Amino acid sequence: MITDDISIPFDVSRIRTDFPTLHRTVNGKDLIYFDNGATSQKPKVVIDAITEYYTNNNANIHRGVHFLSQLATAQYEDARIIIQKYINAPLSEEVLFTKGTTDSINLVANSLGELFTEGDEIIISAMEHHSNIVPWQMLCERKGCILKVIPINEAGELIMDEFDKLLSTKTKLVSITHISNTLGTINPIEEIIEKTHNIGGYVLIDGAQSIQHIKIDVQALDCDFFAFSAHKVFGPTGIGILYGKKEILDQMPPYQGGGDMIAKVTFEKTTYNELPHKFEAGTPNISGGICLGTAISYLSEFDLGAIHAHETELANYAEEKLLEFDGLRIIGTAEKKTSVVSFVVDGIHPFDLGTLLDKQGIAVRTGHHCTQPLMEFYQIPGTVRASFAFYNTKEEIDVFIRAMKRSLNMLR
Ligand code: ALA
Repeated sequence: MITDDISIPFDVSRIRTDFPTLHRTVNGKDLIYFDNGATSQKPKVVIDAITEYYTNNNANIHRGVHFLSQLATAQYEDARIIIQKYINAPLSEEVLFTKGTTDSINLVANSLGELFTEGDEIIISAMEHHSNIVPWQMLCERKGCILKVIPINEAGELIMDEFDKLLSTKTKLVSITHISNTLGTINPIEEIIEKTHNIGGYVLIDGAQSIQHIKIDVQALDCDFFAFSAHKVFGPTGIGILYGKKEILDQMPPYQGGGDMIAKVTFEKTTYNELPHKFEAGTPNISGGICLGTAISYLSEFDLGAIHAHETELANYAEEKLLEFDGLRIIGTAEKKTSVVSFVVDGIHPFDLGTLLDKQGIAVRTGHHCTQPLMEFYQIPGTVRASFAFYNTKEEIDVFIRAMKRSLNMLR
């Protein structure tokens, strides 16, 4: 059950006991997992829910009169309601299960995009993940739409004056990341949503990097779409969410055809099912959906404000310590940032540093982080990225800093 009012005290040592993977060793060292931007670890309650589903409750959903099918259907639809409540969506049918953020964005690009015509404009930003660039480029190729990009400053913040200049009555959609996966920048999405609505455009928020850090209220935001992945919010891979306003989803044609998304099929004509099923063709990731519900219920037990404060403290501490190394530069120094610390070190390839950190049991991501245009902007091949979750600690950062020292001594 979601507990709106009662949150359990924020105790990192206790939280860590919920995550079995955090207690393993890697290369003979205690694992330090700083790759939460790529995927989060899973609490035991989610792992147990996956086992429970396949051990006792496995059946196809929306299709059977038999006990197990009805049980699985009820669990899947209950999960949808848990997620609806968590993001404060007005209606459960506005919460669509997808494969993840990428799939959610592709759904909008393909379905809403069908309603766009030549010359219509779509605005994204210079800090987008490839998954929020490529689907729009494909749409532009298909429909003759025009893609515009909000530039950023050296700190990795959107240049909002430039956004104002890009906005026009031709703007059909602004699709923007809430938090940059590479820089950690928290974007001013409230302002973007308001300004875009003022000229009659829609806004899609890529929440892949925010849902696990910041409380999301889609009604307060008034966004038209909000996309996220389960696996970054302590749930399983292969499942995610697209929230969309009903009045917009109702106008959109189906994305994929198949079972479950139809009302009636004949060889002459097919009519489509109502929301949310219109957008959920085929047997879905049933256990994934149910266990995303479990993950969200688990997260709901905590005060996200306390989580955000803890994670920000970790990031600030890591940055302070890292900046003591000669030739190290933080990439992404926005005033409003979350728990992502990307950096480069003069003369050292991120891959080499990442490999040596791994040998010491420390998991970071190295490379372009699926943001190649951003790497081009900073004129770098990639970064080393440490991304923190609420189960990380200052002690882990101290170990990481010692490992950095050893690694840099070896590489220099
Ligand atoms: N988008 C994920 C990341 O930033 C995979 O690592």
